[in-house]
Amino acid sequence: MIPRSVIDEVVRRSDIVQVIGMYVQLKRAGSNWNGLCPFHSEKSPSFTVFPGTDSFYCFGCGAGGDVITFIKKSENLDYVDAVRLLADRAGIEVPDDAGNENRGPSRERIKLMNVAAAKIFHSCLLNDAAAEPARQYLKKREIADATVRHFYLGYAPADFSWLYPRLHAQGFTDEEMTAGFLCGNSNGRVYDYFRGRVIYPIVDTSKNVVAFGGRVLDDSKPKYLNTSDTPAFKKSRNLFALNYARDYCQDYLILCEGYMDVISMHQAGFQNAVATLGTAITEEHARIIAKYTKKVILSYDSDGAGQNATDKAMKLLDGVGVPVRILKMEGAKDPDEYIKKFGKEKFRALIEGSRTGFEFRLESVLSKFPQNDDQNRLRAASELADIISGYGSAVERDLYSSKAASALGIAVEPLREDIEKYRRRRIRQMNNEAGKEAVEVLRNFNDRINPDAARNVRAASAEEAVLGLLLLYPEHRDSVLRGDVKLESEDFFTLLGRKAFDSIMSLHADTEGFSFSLLGEFFTDDEMGRLKSYEVNRTKLSSNGREALLSAARILHEERVKKEQSEPGKNAPSLSDSLLEKRRKLQQKKDGGH
Ligand code: CTP
Ligand code: MN
Repeated sequence: MIPRSVIDEVVRRSDIVQVIGMYVQLKRAGSNWNGLCPFHSEKSPSFTVFPGTDSFYCFGCGAGGDVITFIKKSENLDYVDAVRLLADRAGIEVPDDAGNENRGPSRERIKLMNVAAAKIFHSCLLNDAAAEPARQYLKKREIADATVRHFYLGYAPADFSWLYPRLHAQGFTDEEMTAGFLCGNSNGRVYDYFRGRVIYPIVDTSKNVVAFGGRVLDDSKPKYLNTSDTPAFKKSRNLFALNYARDYCQDYLILCEGYMDVISMHQAGFQNAVATLGTAITEEHARIIAKYTKKVILSYDSDGAGQNATDKAMKLLDGVGVPVRILKMEGAKDPDEYIKKFGKEKFRALIEGSRTGFEFRLESVLSKFPQNDDQNRLRAASELADIISGYGSAVERDLYSSKAASALGIAVEPLREDIEKYRRRRIRQMNNEAGKEAVEVLRNFNDRINPDAARNVRAASAEEAVLGLLLLYPEHRDSVLRGDVKLESEDFFTLLGRKAFDSIMSLHADTEGFSFSLLGEFFTDDEMGRLKSYEVNRTKLSSNGREALLSAARILHEERVKKEQSEPGKNAPSLSDSLLEKRRKLQQKKDGGH
């Protein structure tokens, strides 16, 4: 945990106009500054910096927050690292172990150790006699020497104590080696984790070696070992080879499944290829990808698992507004195999012929129900109507229904009617509390940041008013704290609203008081933007809005009563053990420990 005083100091000493000005060309507009939003693409500026409240908000895409949120988003850092970066710039000292609550080895030490290990593995692969089988293996897989050097590939000999003594000699401790997942510990005996494996170092966009993947040379299991998450590394936030691909992916990025696919592609000249690290794509990955490129070509394996992963990636990338094309590979299981079998020109042709998401879905339905009888044709029509009904835009639905009808050889009008039927059903399900799953499905087309809002618009907009007022005016927070405006956590309908209320109020009750910047540790960047929008919508009104606060609170009480009557006995879960509670406990423990 970074001490509160340091965070306050960092925010105070980081002039938000100056910091954002390093990333965005800003023009003065009255007391604020405008520019083109760095978080979505636009032609006229809707991105605004408010020096008065030390914050920013984009009226186009809803990104917003304080200077720390801005750095988190722009540099793809977590909260602690964003504070550190700003502290560095402002010349403020951050205690070395801050952000490392369990007082394990520091990130800095682990980063240093990873570089040392990468060098040891790499020079082993290049020079050691023990690495001969690995050199043969890579040769057999047609990996050129230049590629080995480019990716800094390495080898870990099949020995329980090979890396260990070498790192030890460089001054790294047992604790550091186990914390960084380079070694395991069995009853006090520290042993090498990667043995008899080709090593793929994972390098982040700041050129830190953050993790390793290791592959066996034969068919033994498990095929890959990967570094687990550490303080310095989260799988869900990193992409293999993005450190290289970032310079080549302005137009499009190729996303594939495996390390080897990426390496083969880069070797064949497709340097805009990346892979997730032995995990499925996450929402965080999607957001990172959206920052670097305009379009993604999905190039997953052609097996069933790869096709399911394609579906998931399509949904997540759609959620961040990145258009997707899907590569159709025949005669090879993955891009690596395809390139070796058919050559890079054929692969380039695949890219050029890649299909849209809808074409991909259309084709998988058609192949599931061969069009040889009416029964199958009906099933296909109904499945397609369902799929098409999930598209948010009417133009898209119109276009896709024509395509589907002609592929099935049926008239388009009845298909459109079915689509409307499915669409009405989706909307009904969404309004229906029991249809939680449907809500999940429609999230992408509605509100991803506060998905519960759609289920009770009246409560949700009252919440927004209350939160906006609480964020802006300490006197309102006082009123709530004293109890002369009656509001409690359970009055809030949405999870986001409730969590925001809990966080704002517990910070306000804290001796050091509320600061918007502190929320950034507990809310995602998107959520921070949303909270900022509540505030921005409020500032347009002139009064401090005590009347508005009281009337919004009344609405929340009414809606709460309605809800409890409709589901007796089911009390809303309390978030009393909120993250802030935890933060305070940790802080106390720490203070007590000194
Ligand atoms: N993976 C993993 N652990 C495993 C198997 C796979 O972490 N036991 C991850 C790796 O990141 C791997 C990716 O999933 O690169 C795809 O797996 P797979 O298709 O099996 O491997 P390939 O990348 O094709 O590897 P190779 O061509 O070397 O067999
Ligand atoms: Mn492969």
